[in-house]
Amino acid sequence: MLKNFGLKKIVMSFALLAAAACANPPVAEQATALAAAPAVKAAPKPLEITEASFGCIRDLKAVRGYYVGNLLGDIDATVAAANSADGGKYPPGSVVQLVPGEAMVKHYPGFDAATNDWEFFELIPSPAGTKINVRGSTNVVNQFGGNCLSCHAQAEAKWDMVCEQTHGCAPIPVTPVMAKAIQNTDPRCAKMDLPADQMAALQQLMAFRAAAAKQAAPKAN
Ligand code: HEC
Repeated sequence: MLKNFGLKKIVMSFALLAAAACANPPVAEQATALAAAPAVKAAPKPLEITEASFGCIRDLKAVRGYYVGNLLGDIDATVAAANSADGGKYPPGSVVQLVPGEAMVKHYPGFDAATNDWEFFELIPSPAGTKINVRGSTNVVNQFGGNCLSCHAQAEAKWDMVCEQTHGCAPIPVTPVMAKAIQNTDPRCAKMDLPADQMAALQQLMAFRAAAAKQAAPKAN
């Protein structure tokens, strides 16, 4: 059943929808932020993030609709930031994911002031593991042209660029049930049966994707 909904397609759907929702990234703002980034003192040691840093999304800790982890073992501080009612800065090592194909990871201070030291990743998960497709800070654009920072920078400052649904970012057309369905079909995780509403959400995503692909470049497939 589930293999009818190839994860790559679903991940691409998400990226495509995100791109469609954000056709005009505020490039000028980003340029200003870049130019204004101070020469910060070097981090204690750079945080090393590799493909092995990522795995089954459901092995992370669920916080509301998304998942968090910490590559430095400081999961309590990451969960505390995610659960703080007044917002808060995520500690270095924090991993945040809504879907298996995208991640934000917090570096030590000094990585890039323009992104609050977040690095953005577009990932390609498969049963064999994770491939990093694109990574970086201000200029990570997913394959359909959506710049991660241009959307995530819209979150009110106190939320440290985490959007959820109420932090000030323009909404994306991925509903919480769709997100859950995508999480539950992560090909790196043990297979599970999807409840009917999540199956329906995946079908909706595929339909959106087909419609969006028609409008995008003809060579999209
Ligand atoms: C069109 C705007 C847009 C683009 C482009 C975009 N995102 Fe998001 N992202 C959002 C919104 C809005 C949410 C919250 C969705 C929700 O909770 O329903 C979100 C959620 C997330 C989350 C979960 C934490 C949070 O902020 O709620 C992560 C991690 C994430 N995105 C990473 C990325 C990465 C990495 C990229 C680029 C490869 C990217 N996003 C591109 C708007 C965008």
